[in-house]
Amino acid sequence: MRQQRSIRHEAASDAAAIRTLLTRSFPTSAEADLVDKLRGDGDLMLALVAEDAGEVVGYTAFSVMNAPFVAVGLAPVAVDVDNRRKGIATAMILTGLGELRAIGVEAAFVLGEPAYYTRFGFDAAAASGFQSPYAGPYFMVAALRASRLPVSTGPVAYAAAFADLS
Ligand SMILES: CC(C)(COP(=O)(O)OP(=O)(O)OC[C@H]1O[C@@H](n2cnc3c(N)ncnc32)[C@H](O)[C@@H]1OP(=O)(O)O)[C@@H](O)C(=O)NCCC(=O)NCCS
Repeated sequence: MRQQRSIRHEAASDAAAIRTLLTRSFPTSAEADLVDKLRGDGDLMLALVAEDAGEVVGYTAFSVMNAPFVAVGLAPVAVDVDNRRKGIATAMILTGLGELRAIGVEAAFVLGEPAYYTRFGFDAAAASGFQSPYAGPYFMVAALRASRLPVSTGPVAYAAAFADLS
């Protein structure tokens, strides 16, 4: 019988499969390197894999951020090319945001395509008051614990590993 798809926390034994998935999903190995560095630095707040029949087919990471409230950065999100448009990224993102909300995280930032991320509550206008090298129309924030963030301005900084991204 075919095993069901599941979303679970990453395990140490997943590291090679995650690296392979990320290297295949993006034009360069930058995202794979980013995740290895975030993990090595202890900056991954939550990392989820989607598993299908024992294979890692999706990955989503949430890393610590410096912000005026408890916040995480969502990046990267990747789903194996043969498994896209089946709701796997949606399931990982919603699972992650739900877990983070439950442990008191107040906001998640993302740099990405608004047409995709707004469905999860990410909002570029809400992020526009925060100072970041990523500020602009693709920089969004989702409030997790209330309809609005406690403050709407101030500096926000991703974990150190992001500084190596070109
Ligand atoms: C983006 C990605 C993670 C989506 O994974 P997925 O499991 O196929 O996503 P879901 O099935 O949950 O959602 C699919 C929907 O998202 C839409 N979508 C995917 N990428 C999109 C984008 N860049 N802009 C707008 N919409 C997008 C699809 O059109 C689809 O819409 P529909 O449901 O209306 O048909 C996957 O395409 C991927 O790994 N891409 C390469 C890596 C990447 O670019 N990651 C995002 C930046 S970190």
